[in-house]
Amino acid sequence: MSFFNSILTSSLPILPKWFAKPFAKPYVAGETEDEAVFHIQALNEKGFAATVDILGEHVLTTEEARDITNQYCHLYDRIAQESLDCNISIKPTHIGLDISLAEAMANTTAILNKAKVHGNFLRIDMENSPFTDQTFEIYQHCKTIYDKVGVVLQAYLFRSLDDIQHLANGQFNSRICKGIYKESEAIAFQDREEINGNYLDMAKAMASRNAYAGYATHDQDLIDRILNWIESENISLDLFEFQVLYGVPMNGRLESLLEAGYKVRIYVPYGPDWFDYSVRRLKENPNIAGYVLKNFFRKD
Ligand code: FDA
Repeated sequence: MSFFNSILTSSLPILPKWFAKPFAKPYVAGETEDEAVFHIQALNEKGFAATVDILGEHVLTTEEARDITNQYCHLYDRIAQESLDCNISIKPTHIGLDISLAEAMANTTAILNKAKVHGNFLRIDMENSPFTDQTFEIYQHCKTIYDKVGVVLQAYLFRSLDDIQHLANGQFNSRICKGIYKESEAIAFQDREEINGNYLDMAKAMASRNAYAGYATHDQDLIDRILNWIESENISLDLFEFQVLYGVPMNGRLESLLEAGYKVRIYVPYGPDWFDYSVRRLKENPNIAGYVLKNFFRKD
């Protein structure tokens, strides 16, 4: 990473939003539902499935949590109206888990019932470890209402393989990701190789239980290792898909995966709360700041 990119990225939080917006653009599908639908249509036309997320987390009033819930319910109607190949991902603290388990449970149930009306799928994202058990509790409750619901497992957590033993069967659907939050070494692997090793073990444990996995990663080496295993073990195409975040550069890898016949789903976030999310993305990959600046000042 260049010195310039890293200085730029660390300064973004203190710069005005109008300045930061071009840097956010690659990662966020706009501020409104209409803009998100436009971007999802474009992805679908290229052969990608999508999962859409309204940006935000840690909502602290029931009013706001219910407003977000209504927006998600409307989004399911819109997905159906527009015949999009798209499901929805929600963050439990965005719909009230920081207020109470009961609030998050009620709001998730409302969203899930809307998914059920349309025969669509709901993904419950996994946040940091204080919320892990409650998120699984919400998931288990959802499962009693409607089957097309899934959760997320984080490969950095020591517990994740055990969670698979307890939860995974032919009806289980989980995204597997490395995990994005800072977790202590008492509960989580810190070493990249150990996280990747656990990721692969989890993928294998899911497949051996006929559970459906979304392999969510931008790590090209890890994708290679997953593909080697899938191909050598002849893992059924019905048991997995690849997932990435909107806007993360993949150097043609996603198109190659599609060409090879694999399903690829893009996580599309949108909403007025784009700023914090984009700063986080840029911190993960400060090189993006350089690309955006180059385009910003390019004279065509
Ligand atoms: P790794 O961190 O090794 O990155 C591989 C390469 O990709 C690096 O070169 C890096 O610079 C680049 N890169 C990775 N992420 C980037 C980003 N966001 N922006 C720019 N460049 C990036 N986590 C979680 O805790 N709970 C969740 O519910 C989810 N959900 C989720 C959905 C989807 C579809 C994805 C792809 C990821 C998540 N995550 C998540 C985030 C995940 O846990 C992880 O933190 C990031 O994906 C980064 O890990 P990688 O596997 O990509 O590898």
